[in-house]
Amino acid sequence: MTSSPAPCLLAANWKMNMDHLKTLDFLRQLSLLLPEERVWKAGVEMAIFPPFTSLRTAQVFSNSYRLPISLGAQDVSPHECGAFTGEVSASMLEKLGCRYVLVGHSESRKNHHETREELVGKVKRSISSSMIPVLCVGEKEKGEEDWEEITSQAGEVFCDLEPEEREKVIVSYEPVWAIGSSMTASPDRISRATLALKGKMQEKFGLCPRILYGGSVNEGNIDSLMGLGLGGFLVGHASLNPAEFATIFQRLAEEGSR
Ligand code: 13P
Repeated sequence: MTSSPAPCLLAANWKMNMDHLKTLDFLRQLSLLLPEERVWKAGVEMAIFPPFTSLRTAQVFSNSYRLPISLGAQDVSPHECGAFTGEVSASMLEKLGCRYVLVGHSESRKNHHETREELVGKVKRSISSSMIPVLCVGEKEKGEEDWEEITSQAGEVFCDLEPEEREKVIVSYEPVWAIGSSMTASPDRISRATLALKGKMQEKFGLCPRILYGGSVNEGNIDSLMGLGLGGFLVGHASLNPAEFATIFQRLAEEGSR
């Protein structure tokens, strides 16, 4: 029996935006903007990654109003529980209904100086709490195309995972220079980067991970990014506007139902 392909994932990384009231307002608007059941059933999964303080609001709203969105957390502690002031554990996120966890976003790597061991711990904790880690990788400079930087970012985490853990990880290709810059990577560059990532993962670990793209995705460029064989998109600033995010979702849904 062949398993059906995973739906395209459209994920909103809200970063440090959207308090719980704004989250409520966003979700209310979203449900009005996308009233048709057909759009939600077209093979695109929408996921929202709000700040920790808005997760419960998003969970209650989506359950109460039957809004078929998934929830994700922007980070997780590599520790199980205990004296780790300011950290949030995987089991706490699981209890808030999170399906996904971002690990190693370039902003967290830079601001929190995350070590390789911490990234591995975050991936493992997420998986053991039945969540799907989305491991972010991306080259810092636009310059010459040299995929060593991104393949080693993925490889150094994958090498410390068990084979069954590796299969659960989604990789998000997010060139650092494209994030928040309005300079989206070209479709050709995204194809070459994802091909290099898949090739390296196949060669070293015998698997081909699902790959997302993130970096200045918006309603104006989403059409040019479809058809690259990506597993989905991670959207930052354009996801803060419910009308723009709904448009991106609709474009993907139309493409998916063709
Ligand atoms: P922007 O869409 O704002 O460039 O952010 C992308 C991002 O960081 C996704 O995780």
